[in-house]
Amino acid sequence: MNIIKAEDYQQMSRIAANFISAQIVLKPDCVLGLATGSSPTGTYGELIKRYQSGDLDFSKVTSVNLDEYKGLSPENDQSYRYFMDTNLFNHVNIDKNRTYVPDGLEPDAAKACADYDAVIENCGGIDLQLLGLGNNGHIGFNEPADAFAKGTYCVDLTPSTIEANARFFSSMDEVPKQAYTMGIQSIMKAKKILVIVSGKAKAGIVKEAFTGSVTPKVPASVLQLHPDVTVIADKEAASLL
Ligand code: GLP
Repeated sequence: MNIIKAEDYQQMSRIAANFISAQIVLKPDCVLGLATGSSPTGTYGELIKRYQSGDLDFSKVTSVNLDEYKGLSPENDQSYRYFMDTNLFNHVNIDKNRTYVPDGLEPDAAKACADYDAVIENCGGIDLQLLGLGNNGHIGFNEPADAFAKGTYCVDLTPSTIEANARFFSSMDEVPKQAYTMGIQSIMKAKKILVIVSGKAKAGIVKEAFTGSVTPKVPASVLQLHPDVTVIADKEAASLL
């Protein structure tokens, strides 16, 4: 595991954008695994700048997102599809037909998950997976559990995640309680993994996940077993390492 310490959020975002840009330049038809949350917005902003300056071409890129809230439509401004459209896809020349997010409006969880596993499979696997880190060590929406999940599944969000996500909704009642998420095995199958993490509040979980024991109670800890992981942490997030 390669850990890069960045000065601040902006530098973390620029370094992450370097990684993703390099992937696209080396393999223009690559498959990017993408994430939502406040961690990657700066990275996406950097990628948009590089596209606008003519340095980056997304026309052959395919993307698969980690997760989606169950029950939210793509038009809902809190859905992860909406997030990806507004924070990245609408501003670069990616073919939207090749951008995949689990179908939050599919009420049949078994179907939504099987369909998404098929999408990942049909893409030929993920070249580079971008991840944020939840306060409790979750990746995607893989919450602390007794075992690592394999493929895409429907997860009951923990009270701490529901609380953390409440800041984006007008009331607690509106925060979805379930989500469809790629499983740990799907994430671990990515050829390369890039984790971005910033802020003092994440310092404890960064230490636990990346230097502690590998356990499904801290889902991100499994990344220690992957052969090609880079963590970019800003000074505050890396302060306990
Ligand atoms: C959500 C997302 C995760 C993300 C996490 C951390 O739960 N499902 O993919 O990594 O939030 O979010 P943030 O980057 O805002 O701290």
